[in-house]
Amino acid sequence: MAHLPPVAKAPPLLNVDRLTPFVDPLPRPPIAQPIRKNRIPLFRIPIHEFSAQIHRDVPATRFWGYGNSVPGPTIEARSGQEILVEWQNKLPAKHFLPIDHNLMGAEKDNPEVRTVVHVHGAKVPPESDGYPQDWYVPGLSKTYHYPNQQDAAMLWYHDHAMGINRLNVCAGMFGAFIIRDSQEEALNLPNGDFEIPLILTDRMIRADGQLYYPVSQLADAPWLPEYFGDAVLVNGKLLPYLEVQPRKYRVRLLNGSNGRFYFLTLSNSQPFHHIGSDQGLLANPVEAQRLAISPGERMDLILDFTNHAGENIILNDQTVKIMQFRVAKAKVADPSSLPPNLRATPRTPESTAIRTRRLTLEEVDFLTGEPDFHLLDGKRWHEPISETPILDTTEIWELLNLTDDTHPIHLHLVRFQVLDRRPLNTGVYLYQKKLVYTGDAVPPEPHELGWKDTVRATPGACTRIIVNFSGYPGRYVWHCHILEHEDNEMMRPYQVIAPPKA
Ligand code: C2O
Ligand code: CU
Ligand code: CU
Repeated sequence: MAHLPPVAKAPPLLNVDRLTPFVDPLPRPPIAQPIRKNRIPLFRIPIHEFSAQIHRDVPATRFWGYGNSVPGPTIEARSGQEILVEWQNKLPAKHFLPIDHNLMGAEKDNPEVRTVVHVHGAKVPPESDGYPQDWYVPGLSKTYHYPNQQDAAMLWYHDHAMGINRLNVCAGMFGAFIIRDSQEEALNLPNGDFEIPLILTDRMIRADGQLYYPVSQLADAPWLPEYFGDAVLVNGKLLPYLEVQPRKYRVRLLNGSNGRFYFLTLSNSQPFHHIGSDQGLLANPVEAQRLAISPGERMDLILDFTNHAGENIILNDQTVKIMQFRVAKAKVADPSSLPPNLRATPRTPESTAIRTRRLTLEEVDFLTGEPDFHLLDGKRWHEPISETPILDTTEIWELLNLTDDTHPIHLHLVRFQVLDRRPLNTGVYLYQKKLVYTGDAVPPEPHELGWKDTVRATPGACTRIIVNFSGYPGRYVWHCHILEHEDNEMMRPYQVIAPPKA
């Protein structure tokens, strides 16, 4: 079992339960506007410090973010239309959250403030993917190229700087990146005012309204294995409300939290309808009473308020209120549809895989009281690259989770399908390197049958995914999307190899 290092005493924190709920309207992040609309539109997005109010009765909070809002501006792109984004690092020279110099890439001889932007879920050449070591310091900019040769989906951009990623994202460095295409538009889903991004991020907030990031009692090793806050911000607001009409809405849900998993329900027990997963539309809608979403994952949903005119409906995470929908009384026409067939998502046959890789998720325990940390395939970040798929070939990755926790595993560059999860004897695997299954393989949940880029690897199980490595040759990463784990060795490089010339 994981032993947590002793946590240093926190300063007085905001009492979230005492705040008046539902006094702030849910903000909609602004849409990014290109500064040049040539053949290749160019966006320029500053990354800097600003302050913003998370609640009417809480003093303004200092953030580090994109543009002037947290989440940053939403980038809207079309499938097949490439864009350029100039990401300008205009941050101050000193960090305001606690850096741990023992972590890979965060050593004392590195500058404190560094950033590099990754678009999660984007199929991009390696130079524009935001490799964790491609960070740059305040005063510098990088222009990244996004070809957008992929299906309509909600991706998201966030910081990926080596060793301080968890701090930069906590500080506010994330936003949505939506790709659209004509196939999706032909479905007549709710759009415009009736399509809402919902980006969930939990934070610890001090009584004075400022972000708090907890530290261990070891002054030289402040890293802690997890970050949970009781202030759940929705699009940057605490306990907001949204006025809606009695009709269908499309909700683009993202769990942008460092480490929290959400279990969402609606107070009137009305169902959600899944229409898409991380990488775009499902074949058919899937009805669900409860949503379980892990860090990094997205869900594309239809919420139908048609029969709920005049109701106030609360979105809950288990027993905690997150936000309120206020449904107007007056009936309206709803010209949008929820079609029974969305998009063909053929299953990738296992027979197309040219190799299977068995990769462990392990926890490293010390008896000396140092914090535990996690490894992928038993290897640290700096060890030589061991995963070298060939471009345009298909592989099965078996993720053997030998720990007691779920780890959301994300691969850059690619989309994949979940094959199954099967319980195994972790003791036998750890001590004898023998794979003994203790039950049958469980198929993915219906809403996991589409294209994914992040998968829940459940404890004591082998989670299998099937991946076609199409896109570009070069160096990418795969990692756990619990950012505290990612910053402390639960991330590995991998290399897509160009096929040998015929
Ligand atoms: Cu959401 Cu490697 O990233
Ligand atoms: Cu990613
Ligand atoms: Cu993890």
